[in-house]
Amino acid sequence: MRVNGVPVTRDPEPGQCLRTFLREHGWFGVKKGCDAGDCGACTVHVDGVPVHSCIYPAFRAQGREITTVEGLGGAHHLQQHFLDAQAFQCGFCTAGLIMTGAALDPQQLADLPHALKGNICRCTGYRSIAEAFTGARASANGNGNGAHVVPPLAAPAGPDLVTGRAEFTLDTAPEGLLHMKLVRSPHAHARIRAVDARAALALPGVHAVFTHEDSPAHRYSTARHEHESDDPADTLLLDRVVRFAGQRVAAVVADTAAGAERAAAFVDVDYELLPAVFDPEAAMAPGAPELHAGARGNLAGEIRSEIGDADAGFAHAAITYEETFEIHRVQHVHLETHASIAWVDGDGRLVVRTSSQVPFLTRDALARLFDLPRDRVRVFTARVGGGFGAKQEMLTEDIAALAALRLGRPVQLEFTREEEFTAATTRHPMRVRVKVGADATGKLTALALRIVADTGAYGNHGPAVLGHSCGESIALYRCEGKRVEAYSVYTNTVPAGALRGYGLSQLVFAVDSALDELARRLDLDPLELRRRNLIGPGDPLISTEGAPADVRIGSYGLDQCVDAVHYALARTRDRPHPAGDWLVGEGMGVSMLDTTPPGGHIAHARISERPGGGYTLAVGTPEFGNGTTTVLLQLAAGALRVHPEDIAIVQADTDAVEHDTGAYGSTGTVVAGAAVLDAAERLHALELARGGDAVAELLTAEGRCDGSRRSVAFNAQGFRVAVSPRTGEVRVLFSVHAADAGTVLNPGQCRSQIEGGVVQALGAAMFEHVDIDASGQVSTRTLRSYHVPVLADVTPTEVHFARTRDRVVGPLGAKPMSESPFNPVAPALANAVRDATGVRFTSLPLSRSAVYLGLAARSARQAGQRAC
Ligand code: FES
Ligand code: FES
Repeated sequence: MRVNGVPVTRDPEPGQCLRTFLREHGWFGVKKGCDAGDCGACTVHVDGVPVHSCIYPAFRAQGREITTVEGLGGAHHLQQHFLDAQAFQCGFCTAGLIMTGAALDPQQLADLPHALKGNICRCTGYRSIAEAFTGARASANGNGNGAHVVPPLAAPAGPDLVTGRAEFTLDTAPEGLLHMKLVRSPHAHARIRAVDARAALALPGVHAVFTHEDSPAHRYSTARHEHESDDPADTLLLDRVVRFAGQRVAAVVADTAAGAERAAAFVDVDYELLPAVFDPEAAMAPGAPELHAGARGNLAGEIRSEIGDADAGFAHAAITYEETFEIHRVQHVHLETHASIAWVDGDGRLVVRTSSQVPFLTRDALARLFDLPRDRVRVFTARVGGGFGAKQEMLTEDIAALAALRLGRPVQLEFTREEEFTAATTRHPMRVRVKVGADATGKLTALALRIVADTGAYGNHGPAVLGHSCGESIALYRCEGKRVEAYSVYTNTVPAGALRGYGLSQLVFAVDSALDELARRLDLDPLELRRRNLIGPGDPLISTEGAPADVRIGSYGLDQCVDAVHYALARTRDRPHPAGDWLVGEGMGVSMLDTTPPGGHIAHARISERPGGGYTLAVGTPEFGNGTTTVLLQLAAGALRVHPEDIAIVQADTDAVEHDTGAYGSTGTVVAGAAVLDAAERLHALELARGGDAVAELLTAEGRCDGSRRSVAFNAQGFRVAVSPRTGEVRVLFSVHAADAGTVLNPGQCRSQIEGGVVQALGAAMFEHVDIDASGQVSTRTLRSYHVPVLADVTPTEVHFARTRDRVVGPLGAKPMSESPFNPVAPALANAVRDATGVRFTSLPLSRSAVYLGLAARSARQAGQRAC
């Protein structure tokens, strides 16, 4: 075959797919997002025809012309259009989209949703991608307030992303690279009696099989936090006890990934089965199987607190509403799976190149685990292909490092898409009992919550998610009495972890749905009930933990957000609705997010003059599609009064700066941004003091931010939906989102973050569901069985920004806006469906079948009442 005009003569391995073959030959623009032809990231042209190369046998390409994104050479108009529209965030999908688009004829382009049904983008929300196909340019103000105070910048990585040159984690091939595959437990709860690896080790090309006998004795959490004590230390690198189906049992290292996979099937594990429990309420009950020694009632975390007197508030309420809401398990589906390569460098240091949001905390954890001084470990990232919280875990680095240290060769571990579903983390499923009371005017008198969160087999992020879930969700409302009883419970299921919203999306759905229902029962407009109870600019922020001294309202744009959504819905009310018996309704959701995590979030930055001119900016926070690089360069260039192109950025490398807690909830803009601005302003002051002394030494300045002072950001989402009573289909007719992000540093980029967050949340609210069967196995193991939104599923979202400037921490008055747009989406949708149908849906997702059954049940009830 010829690849991009270059003859390739080596024969493929038996059974090898074209994608793997091309990547083995260094065509890294061909990406791996799945293994089943579902995501489009691997799209190439075979004799001009686009194919998903992961399901195209390599031998069939013999004698043909293959074109990868590298073969377009940057000359295709679509590559320029993607740059013009800034149609990427992490960019892992970009090459596949361009290759798909480059083969479309005008007729196919006219039906873009159909033409792109085989391409998934998890980050952008598709608006900018659709615009790229029409040749539109990114709008500078993003429909926002245009309040930027430094010139908005296009993503510096754009040219590399559209040509396939951008290096993601595994887009490299170190000399002597070995590959690892993990043997995983088929049982939800078992004790390993013995592992027999002799047959696997006897296979050619197999270098080692690691088992629990090779594991360090040190227990840790896969979750990474600034303070290690935030998470229960309940995990061993390889444990003798397995607590969920999918837990790693052994690791096989071989010359090739296929060889390691083959050998893994020959590892014989003798299990003693243990009783398992899959429901968190059952796990809390007396006599339930104990998952972790010392975890009373299988609790990984617990909160009981009360502010004011909730019972008194209920006693003098004119009306109360009480309901249980079920929020399901969903997956992040970042397109680049978890992956890392570990090796020992020439100085004997352990080096890990990884797809992580937290390189520094991973470095610290590896040093502790292998009893190494911190400076003997280096962790860095290339470009990260999405994370959404899932890459705040250490899921591959530890075991790849063990193998590299033992074998003295580079070792690569890459999760398959199936492993992402069965062995990586998910959102915490929650059962939330809400009781809310109000007086006759709609003023809240009491709010009580009972939360049971399923943390799965391990407690990574469990207690922190629990704390966060019942923080801002109830601090958003003025109320005399607030009470919370909350549990994070171990079960024998795949572990939950951090996911965009960090517990808030679940609680905002429950609380906001309950308030909407309360308003309807008071015969009050739900918007009016919110206006009477939402906190105001001078109000204290009172959650169940009391009023944290370090959180205050540094700028207040909640009223602007609510108004913007209200007026947008009103302005578009006369748009046509689907013909027939569709039921139409509107709904809104609101949410609040602390600008930085509690307990400190640290970022260091250093900026140095370079010999010959220009600057080098070193920061610790990674770029994974959150736009951090763009904003940090803007901030540094603005403070130094230079062009961003004069600044080279070194990012996400533990050798680059002293420390960075990592990428959590937009801290890249707020905390790392503050550190960068600090460094750049200091350097500029030094330069001014130096004056025109051309022979002076090159200057360097450091900046830091500890994120200890915190403000809040606000979001409001509105939907108009049509619901088919015959099929249960919910169609979004209009979507509007308003955000208080303080000073919007890059409105176009911020708009895309919001659009992407809304679409991801809509997927979670309407389609996505990680199913677990009766034996505790995840049964949704492919993207095909787990419906991630594609372009055809999406209605564009109108985005508005409040005009505020924060006074607390963010650089130039900025507040975070990557994580929070997710949170008000599900309640806004459920409230709109309630408005349309009269049925309050208390569990997610609002799938077609769930809505159909809900409407049918209501009809049956009404028929029964009439019969009575
Ligand atoms: Fe080929 Fe997903 S990697 S379609
Ligand atoms: Fe499309 Fe990240 S930009 S998957």
